[in-house]
Amino acid sequence: MALDFAAAYDELNPDHRDHRFYLELAAELGVTSALDLGCGTGVLARALAARGISVVGIDPDPEMLRVASRGPGADRVDWRLGYSDVAGTASAGLAVMSGHVAQVFLDDAAWERALHDVHRALVPGGTLAFESRDPAARAWDRWTRADTLRTTGPFEFWHETVDVQLPLVTYDTFTLDPRTGERTSTRDVLAFRDAETLSRSLQAAGFQLLFLYGDWDRRPPSVNTPELIVGARTSV
Ligand SMILES: C[S@@+](CC[C@H](N)C(=O)[O-])C[C@H]1O[C@@H](n2cnc3c(N)ncnc32)[C@H](O)[C@@H]1O
Repeated sequence: MALDFAAAYDELNPDHRDHRFYLELAAELGVTSALDLGCGTGVLARALAARGISVVGIDPDPEMLRVASRGPGADRVDWRLGYSDVAGTASAGLAVMSGHVAQVFLDDAAWERALHDVHRALVPGGTLAFESRDPAARAWDRWTRADTLRTTGPFEFWHETVDVQLPLVTYDTFTLDPRTGERTSTRDVLAFRDAETLSRSLQAAGFQLLFLYGDWDRRPPSVNTPELIVGARTSV
């Protein structure tokens, strides 16, 4: 029996400081509609909907969406299987990409297309917020078995960096069932854009930078912070 990654995702990622940040932001902005691009297992989308916000949750992975659409409060979210092009037009006051979704867009064209689609999906004056790991913090140096080992049920689960060709970082995710010795691995690539690149691409897509934080407590980016947490607004 192999690990059901989508079913185990929430247990493997229990720290929801990011989701708390986006929920507070939605409350501060007073939005009534939101788009969650790359919603995964839908924890944030359902939490937004539970606050009375009308939410569209988009993900291209049917397994993630299957878990998302079964969670508590799932019937209050409009789940869409697909990519940013199914986000609609002028329908969301806030768009979020949590869980480092911004890093799955590897080349400039894919990133620009996603920003363009999100811009179209936002109402005038709407806000896009997302986080991307700051390349200056070199998270990939700590993607070793020793530093990332977690367990879920009988399974061991960890990451190992394979190759760093900035802005791209290739890493493997391993699972091991110690009872049988059965081992699986999947290879993924993430893009690590720096603050200047993110800000330039947002401007090119028609956004104005609203905030840039280095961590979930809203500290500015520094040598000691891991994230680039970005807010940007479309013009009114
Ligand atoms: C690390 S998970 C984050 C899930 C969720 N947003 C969270 O905060 O836990 C990344 C998600 O991005 C989705 N994804 C991958 N490629 C995508 C793309 N091109 N557009 C939108 N989502 C994508 C994956 O299917 C996965 O569910």
